[in-house]
Amino acid sequence: MEKIKLPNRPIGPFPTVLAGVEVNGRPNYVTIGACGVVSLDAVLYISLKSTHYSIKGVKETGFFSVNIPSAETVRKTDYCGVVSGKNIDKSNLFTSFYDDLGRAPMIKECPMNMLCKVINQVPMFGFEMFFGEIVAVYGNEQCLTDGKLDPLKVNPIIMMGSAYFNLGHEVGQIFKEGREFKKELT
Ligand SMILES: Cc1cc2nc3c(=O)[nH]c(=O)nc-3n(C[C@H](O)[C@H](O)[C@H](O)COP(=O)(O)O)c2cc1C
Repeated sequence: MEKIKLPNRPIGPFPTVLAGVEVNGRPNYVTIGACGVVSLDAVLYISLKSTHYSIKGVKETGFFSVNIPSAETVRKTDYCGVVSGKNIDKSNLFTSFYDDLGRAPMIKECPMNMLCKVINQVPMFGFEMFFGEIVAVYGNEQCLTDGKLDPLKVNPIIMMGSAYFNLGHEVGQIFKEGREFKKELT
């Protein structure tokens, strides 16, 4: 198998999420790929360019939300990454809802929502990384199977290169595939 050297750029795959922030008393939503877990604790990070309108809201309120859009909302999701709340009001694009625990708007149309309380902030190459403790999680009822979020019903958007993709289908079970392979090797 030949390996080809490619440009040193992050090309993905990354999950596509919509961060929700309250700026000047109104919801604002920003598309991001720089979002993820940092450990086994209930903490997520998002990384926002320092000039983004959303930054102001995270700093003011100390909260942000991570909303997982489904592939059906790809156009609105991309739109939130094309226009800035500085010039265009994005507050009516989705139906917003709130949890009592924190002042960050969440999106009803997104199958999954996580409300995060900022616990740390690190500047990084012109971006701000916000680490947020997850204080509330919501799932749309129709995306549950046996009370758990069903990945195929959530149908998240994956970005890679210059395109968006949906999840496709299940290819294995976490920890089961590796354990079975381990048995085969011994
Ligand atoms: C697919 C995609 C991924 C993006 N990922 C990020 C990201 O991880 N961090 C970031 O700061 N901006 C990212 N952006 C750019 C912002 O979404 C965009 O500049 C947005 O208009 C900023 O909105 P705001 O000024 O209302 O906060 C991304 C845009 C797209 C389309």
